[in-house]
Amino acid sequence: MTLNLVQAAYLIAAVLFVLSLAGLSRHETARRGNVFGIIGMAIALGATIWLAAEQADSPGVTLVLIALAMAAGAAIGLWRARVVQMTGMPQLIAMLHSFVGIAAVLIGYNAYRAPGPLSGSETTIHLVEVSLGIFIGAVTFTGSVVAALKLSGRVSSNPLMLPRRHLLNLLALLSSAGLLVWFVASHAMLPLLLLTVIALAFGWHLVASIGGGDMPIVVSMLNSYSGWAAAAAGFLLGNDLLIVTGALVGSSGAILSYLMCQGMNRSFLSVIAGGFGTEGVTFAGDEDYGEHREASAAEVAALLRAARSVVITPGYGMAVARAQYPVADLTARLRKQGTQVRFGIHPVAGRLPGHMNVLLAEARVPYDIVLGLDEINGDLPDTDVVLVIGANDTVNPAAIDEPGSPIAGMPVLEVWKAREVVVLKRSMASGYAGVQNPLFFRDNTRMLFGDAKDVVEEVVRLL
Ligand code: TAP
Repeated sequence: MTLNLVQAAYLIAAVLFVLSLAGLSRHETARRGNVFGIIGMAIALGATIWLAAEQADSPGVTLVLIALAMAAGAAIGLWRARVVQMTGMPQLIAMLHSFVGIAAVLIGYNAYRAPGPLSGSETTIHLVEVSLGIFIGAVTFTGSVVAALKLSGRVSSNPLMLPRRHLLNLLALLSSAGLLVWFVASHAMLPLLLLTVIALAFGWHLVASIGGGDMPIVVSMLNSYSGWAAAAAGFLLGNDLLIVTGALVGSSGAILSYLMCQGMNRSFLSVIAGGFGTEGVTFAGDEDYGEHREASAAEVAALLRAARSVVITPGYGMAVARAQYPVADLTARLRKQGTQVRFGIHPVAGRLPGHMNVLLAEARVPYDIVLGLDEINGDLPDTDVVLVIGANDTVNPAAIDEPGSPIAGMPVLEVWKAREVVVLKRSMASGYAGVQNPLFFRDNTRMLFGDAKDVVEEVVRLL
């Protein structure tokens, strides 16, 4: 009876998760999507705890243990959520993916040590599940740790170029397959331990060998891996909801990675193969593009006053400076004076998918003037002024003009086609991919140096 009720609760939770994902795909319904997700997760947790207590020899002890673990997790989670800055979110998310990975590894070992009653062929299937779960979990764990280190700037975002690295990856995969066969045949611990060590090294190497510009794809790929790791844990625990949820996360992460690859003109296979195709790329940033020109806040205010159409292209610097509120003020002011203002959002602007959209929505910029790369690029030649606010790689013409550039081939916001371009940033420093930006030296570009928030506030005041 309990099992039937729990299965029904799982089904309801699974439907709510699907509705949640559907809701999250659009701004207007994102809040509702979140609520569906929260209700679904509450039902799933309640049903799982109830089932665990029912099946336990001493329900009291089980419930106390679960409560203790949840209290510790919730305390740490609430503390992190309260202190994390919006700019620290990408590395926090990468860290959370690593937890799913390590959990899958631990569940795998647990399932190996305490398999429950199994017949002959079931044992084989179980051991294959154990090794696959541990393999995916270990790759997700170390891959996510490297991603978190790269995103937080604690290790360089340049790709690690070990000699014969593709051969190393291939060897890792082949030896893992061999160890899996050995493990299933022998039931021994040694091949499983070796498999774990190789998977940990493989995950580390896969992400370490991916260059800065491709990190967004890696983050969503690790999201997908963490889903598959959870699904594998679901098989080991015999928990249908975990399988469904893991598959939802795994497949939506894979679709997002694929869309990002399309948006950045990268081959999906080459990115998941660990930076395959980065050969021949130059990382020099010292080409001589000539002199740049500077503008004062007053000159920019005058330029904006005279403009009929303005496009704002925000990037990571807007997030760092928390400049979205003065940017929203500036937008409202310009629109009031009759200027057409629109936003051009690059799919990988910032450090998270949808990063800029979230910030602009937070500052209540109307959704209908926030356009994607494809929607705005065609209109840029007819635009009077483009304001580049803390963006760099996403507006870099080298992606189109310089085939040897690490970001070559990535579609960018072609802001230099507008009549005037003003770039707001603090210095001439490069962006995330570490490449110089020839946009700053174009004849129609002027640099306005300073913290994006202070500078935009100053321009609003002058307007
Ligand atoms: P970036 O190329 O990272 O450039 C941001 C610029 O903002 C920097 O050049 C910096 O120049 C400036 N900046 C920093 N703090 C500032 C402040 N307080 N005020 C004003 N400017 C400030 O940004 P982007 O154009 O958004 O490109 C995103 C990059 O991140 C891409 O390479 C992308 O591949 C990568 N990435 C994206 C994601 C996702 S999913 N979106 C995830 C990982 C990596 P100064 O230091 O001179 O001020």
